[in-house]
Amino acid sequence: MSRFEAAIFDLDGVLVDSAKAHFAAWRRLADELGIRFTERDNEALKGVDRMGSLRMILDLGGRGFDETEMVALATRKNGYYLEAVAHMSPADQLPGAEDLVRSAKAAGLRCAVASASRNAPLLLDRAGLAPLFDYVADAGAVARGKPAPDIFLACSDALDAPPAACLAFEDAAAGIDAIIAAGMFAVGIGDPLVLGRARVVYRETAAVDLAALLSA
Ligand code: G6P
Ligand code: MG
Repeated sequence: MSRFEAAIFDLDGVLVDSAKAHFAAWRRLADELGIRFTERDNEALKGVDRMGSLRMILDLGGRGFDETEMVALATRKNGYYLEAVAHMSPADQLPGAEDLVRSAKAAGLRCAVASASRNAPLLLDRAGLAPLFDYVADAGAVARGKPAPDIFLACSDALDAPPAACLAFEDAAAGIDAIIAAGMFAVGIGDPLVLGRARVVYRETAAVDLAALLSA
């Protein structure tokens, strides 16, 4: 029998193909502000919440804004993002995502989503994945964002599974650090050079070998 009782999934870049839409929306805003922002810069923003991401971009350009302007800029970016995901559907699930969650449930694991995105419930709904989850953490309700462990711990609490019995999946370095800080088993989805601190890294969601993880 596996020591795992629960599986916790990041959303953007693990279950749904929305990481590109976040990048495009930030790049559009950065262009408007005259800040050079590359795909490489974007890697550090993955998993980081909206205001934290904005601060990182403004730092890149050495720009400072007051709090009211910052909120307006973050709202503008979110408008661009919502435009980009307006037509999102189950076709935007990442390959293997629904199968992975269904297999985890079939193996008796309780399943949750730990996304820094305040748009997570909307995306899960559009992607047709919402009914599969026992719990979706509210990114707006956790005290500290990734790399702090808070959102993963909120999931293990809600699922009533001790952290050591949770398998957690992430495509972002900040997310892997959050999982490790929570005391959970970290599975990276993406580039092993970026996600090297994870216990196991798979190139893509479709490559995850759940049976192997359950016996880890
Ligand atoms: C996820 C993404 C980030 C995004 C963050 C906040 O963690 O990886 O790129 O900035 O969510 O998303 P939101 O939809 O709340 O702006
Ligand atoms: Mg992600």
